[in-house]
Amino acid sequence: MASIETLDVRPIDAALCEAVWPLSVEAGWNQNLADWRFMLGAGRGFGCVGPDGRWQASSLVLPLGRKLAWISMVLVTKERRRGGVGTGLLKRCIEEVRSAGAVAGLDATEQGRPIYLPLGFHDLYAIARWHFDEARDEVAAPFGVTLRAIGAADLPRLALYDRPLTGMERPAVLAHLALRQPGRAWIAEDRAGGIVGYVLGREGRMATSLGPVVADSEAIALALISKAASAAPGPFIVDVPAAHGAVRSWLEKQGAVTPRGYMRMTLGDAKGLDDASHVFALAGPELG
Ligand SMILES: CC(C)(COP(=O)(O)OP(=O)(O)OC[C@H]1O[C@@H](n2cnc3c(N)ncnc32)[C@H](O)[C@@H]1OP(=O)(O)O)[C@@H](O)C(=O)NCCC(=O)NCCS
Repeated sequence: MASIETLDVRPIDAALCEAVWPLSVEAGWNQNLADWRFMLGAGRGFGCVGPDGRWQASSLVLPLGRKLAWISMVLVTKERRRGGVGTGLLKRCIEEVRSAGAVAGLDATEQGRPIYLPLGFHDLYAIARWHFDEARDEVAAPFGVTLRAIGAADLPRLALYDRPLTGMERPAVLAHLALRQPGRAWIAEDRAGGIVGYVLGREGRMATSLGPVVADSEAIALALISKAASAAPGPFIVDVPAAHGAVRSWLEKQGAVTPRGYMRMTLGDAKGLDDASHVFALAGPELG
């Protein structure tokens, strides 16, 4: 197995997004160029190049505040797998996170979890990825709650609402998603105008991705998901923590299927990250 010392790990900057995109396409993932460009610009990418100059592997560290950083896009092209490259890149990412004095978090696929466990990552909670074509049943917001489109002026208080409920400090991610696809961004407010939930979304290579969805209650979350899905073109993907039974039932009624899932994991303790009670959908495994 190649060790990190022998592995030629190179930085990947945002200008290289087109060159590394084929890695996520090969894996059948939904990211498009806009996703790669944002993640490489806001975070730090590391990867390996093959003898023909093409990228054979990638990994990424996205800071979510000073105390937490998200590791994602750990991809090794099929021809280069089982040679220690995935582990080597992950170690490089961990080094990066540790040197910033932060804790690493990630959402592991079934293929990724076997390389994260021996490195000390532990499970927080399971997440189901759901695919569905359209929202057939509209869900009304609970009494006293109104939904409206998010505007740029909402962003500072959106980040303040999000932080204690998710354990993530991610104003740049929220702003990027809200402004990139305004038609998919909705806020729920109570009678006093206080935020009681929100949903964001983005177009992807194969489907519209809905999330994050953060809300005071599951009823508000459902109203937000149904609103976002009725206002945007399908098909949709949404990553829902397994604990949320009402969201799951609604998705099943829309004909949604869940071919795979993720495990949220951390290396060390990140306050609030293990609590999915207000997190009804992820921004995505690549964004936290
Ligand atoms: C997951 C992935 C990055 C692993 O890359 P890799 O370079 O093959 O990983 P490594 O060679 O470092 O594997 C390290 C160890 O993990 C385990 N492992 C790796 N892939 C495995 C698999 N498919 N099944 C079981 N164990 C596996 C093995 O113990 C392996 O050591 P060994 O080859 O000496 O037995 C790669 O399979 C991949 O790109 N998969 C598709 C995308 C994906 O799921 N990424 C993870 C996102 S969380």
